[in-house]
Amino acid sequence: MTPNQPHPWWADAAVYQIYVRSFADANGDGLGDLSGIIAKLDYVVSLGVDAIWLNPCYPSPQFDHGYDVSDYLEIEPDYGDLATFDRLVTAANERGLRVVMDIVPNHCSSEHPWFRAALDAGPGSAERERFYFRDGRGPNGDEPPNNWRSMFGGIAWTRTATHDGAPGQWYLHSFAPQQPDWNWSHPDVVDHFDRVLRFWLDRGVDGFRVDAPTPVGKAPGLPDAPPTPGMTDAEAVGYNPYNTFRPEGHEVWRHWRAVIDGYERDHPGRELVMVAETYAPKRPELAAEYIRPGEFRQAFCFELMSTPWAAPRLRRTIAEIVETRVDVASNTAWAMNNHDVARAATRLGRADAADDTDWVRPPIAAAHGEIDLALGTRRARAALLLMLALPGAVYLYQGEELGLPEVLDLAPEARQDPSFARTNGAELGRDGCRVPVPWTDDAATSYGFSAVASPTAPWMPQPAGWGRYAASTQVDADASTLTLFQRAIAARRDAFAQGDAPIDWLDVDDHDLVAFRRGDTVVVTNTGASARPLPAVLGRHRRVLICSAPEHSIERGAIAAQIDVPANATIWLTPG
Ligand code: NOJ
Repeated sequence: MTPNQPHPWWADAAVYQIYVRSFADANGDGLGDLSGIIAKLDYVVSLGVDAIWLNPCYPSPQFDHGYDVSDYLEIEPDYGDLATFDRLVTAANERGLRVVMDIVPNHCSSEHPWFRAALDAGPGSAERERFYFRDGRGPNGDEPPNNWRSMFGGIAWTRTATHDGAPGQWYLHSFAPQQPDWNWSHPDVVDHFDRVLRFWLDRGVDGFRVDAPTPVGKAPGLPDAPPTPGMTDAEAVGYNPYNTFRPEGHEVWRHWRAVIDGYERDHPGRELVMVAETYAPKRPELAAEYIRPGEFRQAFCFELMSTPWAAPRLRRTIAEIVETRVDVASNTAWAMNNHDVARAATRLGRADAADDTDWVRPPIAAAHGEIDLALGTRRARAALLLMLALPGAVYLYQGEELGLPEVLDLAPEARQDPSFARTNGAELGRDGCRVPVPWTDDAATSYGFSAVASPTAPWMPQPAGWGRYAASTQVDADASTLTLFQRAIAARRDAFAQGDAPIDWLDVDDHDLVAFRRGDTVVVTNTGASARPLPAVLGRHRRVLICSAPEHSIERGAIAAQIDVPANATIWLTPG
């Protein structure tokens, strides 16, 4: 974007992520569904967001809850059907909401008809060419074809059996064995996805969140990954140079971008987002490659999720992203939460959350110490307000507006995330951020998650007292996180109407403060444990637009001549 150029809706959008399975259950079967979403659209509108992003709702055996797609052109029967999907798009659009679809190009489900056909057809067949089938190494081919590891733990290969039950070839899966990787050098795969993109665009969606683009495209010959001294296992898998961030993958994105551009040309008035789930810890420059001209329009920035709650670190993280991106104001998608990471209120309440270390606790909850949830919640509110002040788009995960914590004490038998089993429980996995949303305080309807009396128990158990966080108990409460969220989204619209205003850092000479100006608004985050006086450098910015500290919400509009920046809080100020 250049200054004063009208920007597309997605450039600075607030997008609300709906994890369909856990959002709202209209028919009482314990699973969220599309009709449930339709029933809650007015609530979504009340949040002030611009769009919803639906996690995958295609037919799927649900080994990875929809990220194992068995039919890209249908709706999961447990969630509804195409007619319900169309009704959802219409109902959303009538309310001024856009709809973003999740699309999964790296892999499908092992139940996908093309993979079934490949298994049936056997070695050397054309059907197997659409995937990565290889003979094993070693005597009898008992060793996997190379040393690649899966992102969910364990090796990235699974051995097949021949028709008579003898051990057969191996196939590649960068994630779970139920998620075979597509071979993107095969024209059938390219053509299939072209059709998929157009199919959903024709149904009215406003673009795609593209799942796991980094492993798409492999090095020819699938060579062994080199040793990676100094990297954690997770980093080594994520940066396997022969399976991730490949030039072959970038060719795919240039092709997709041409499809998206072409669709817009043929359908005047449509503005389509194409946002990449670029998970690239410590390597923001690699994520930035996905938003080069002619590739994605936007790429996620997950770094805030892993940055310690320490002002210098937060500033450095933001500055690095801003510096590595050509047009941060339109091509950055910030997020503090999603369906893959422990929720912020819990993360930021960890005893080590504020350690001024170089990097990160793993974003997926692993072993954890004591959690101070009150402190974590306070910091999560501050982090939300900080993120909402940044140039670019924000993606907000259902329940973030309620300040939901991670549910840590799920019984092992209740856990369903493949990463839990594949790491023998070393990683708790992601179930704790996917617990069905509490809408009311009524335990008999699974806290309002199910719209009927006596529903089937929710697919993932809700903890006792979950109604404490319910939307119904927070609405209109001055100090609630829901109220802060609604006011903050509205304030963002006003304060940063010029979405491309750059960050102008303010040097406030205080180790606990991050401070910057964007346009007319000054933003200060205090990561310290005590209140700080407003630094003199803020000059005439003394009118409080919004403050994340619950005890300060009454100060909106007040002149802050004597007001401090509360501990663990973010404050937005305008001249006054
Ligand atoms: C990223 C998705 O967000 C995650 O939920 C999924 O398990 C992997 N990609 C594999 O599709």
